[in-house]
Amino acid sequence: MDRERPIGVFDSGVGGLSILRALRAELPQENFVYFSDAGHAPYGEKREDFVTGRSLAIAVDLLEQHRIKALVIACNTATAAAVHLLRARHTHLPVIGVEPALKPAAALTRTGHVAVLATRGTLSSGKFDALLASLRGQADFVLVPCDGLAAAIEDDDTARIRDLCERYTAGIGRFGNGPDEIDTLVLGCTHYPFAGDVFRDLLGPQVQLVETGAPVARHTRRLLQAQDLLNPQGSAHVQWQTSGSAQALHAAAARWLGLGGGRSMDPGSRPG
Ligand code: DGL
Repeated sequence: MDRERPIGVFDSGVGGLSILRALRAELPQENFVYFSDAGHAPYGEKREDFVTGRSLAIAVDLLEQHRIKALVIACNTATAAAVHLLRARHTHLPVIGVEPALKPAAALTRTGHVAVLATRGTLSSGKFDALLASLRGQADFVLVPCDGLAAAIEDDDTARIRDLCERYTAGIGRFGNGPDEIDTLVLGCTHYPFAGDVFRDLLGPQVQLVETGAPVARHTRRLLQAQDLLNPQGSAHVQWQTSGSAQALHAAAARWLGLGGGRSMDPGSRPG
């Protein structure tokens, strides 16, 4: 049955687990295949055509090996580079992308000042330009390309994560809820929610952090429902695949989702 096939989810690495966490909460009767392309991470500072190529290859692999019924691109950089091509090539496959949560941030900010942290690839994309243009006049957005931050989170390098979070938030303006202060921080890369505690610690409780997991999960539910593809009997089971270290993915899944330990894992999986 089509409905019982898994949902494919991919990212350059562990960042997409922040989306998978929301998907499992919203859709506990679905099953998932998570592909971490850690062997080619990070995507954010690579050429767009490289990220496009990886995204297309991963989609084909998930379709051929796992017969996925929908694909969630749990990566802002890959969405910007490849969502249009994936939809054009796989016209019958629901493809869900993610984008930095500028619209929710514009609605949430009281001071009108929002900082957007994302990868260089996301911020320099045409897709992001169009998003920003669509919100002109609704808030003041400061854009911060955070080179190295996704890689530090991927490596679980606590000292470097803190150092980079500090560096990228210092000097872009004052944070707080005063008239000219930045009161909203968009975590525009799916890795960054895993540095949420560090940002909260650095910026204080007045600054609200905005991420995309929950809205993306709700959108996925609506899309599946509309196509009569909701699974009545899955169990939020996840099959793990990676082009990088299986141990690292296991550890991240255990840490961030409370999963791991003995679940299926295919470290040498395609696409290599
Ligand atoms: N997690 C990805 C994103 O949302 C990519 C991070 C990276 O590999 O640079 O953009």
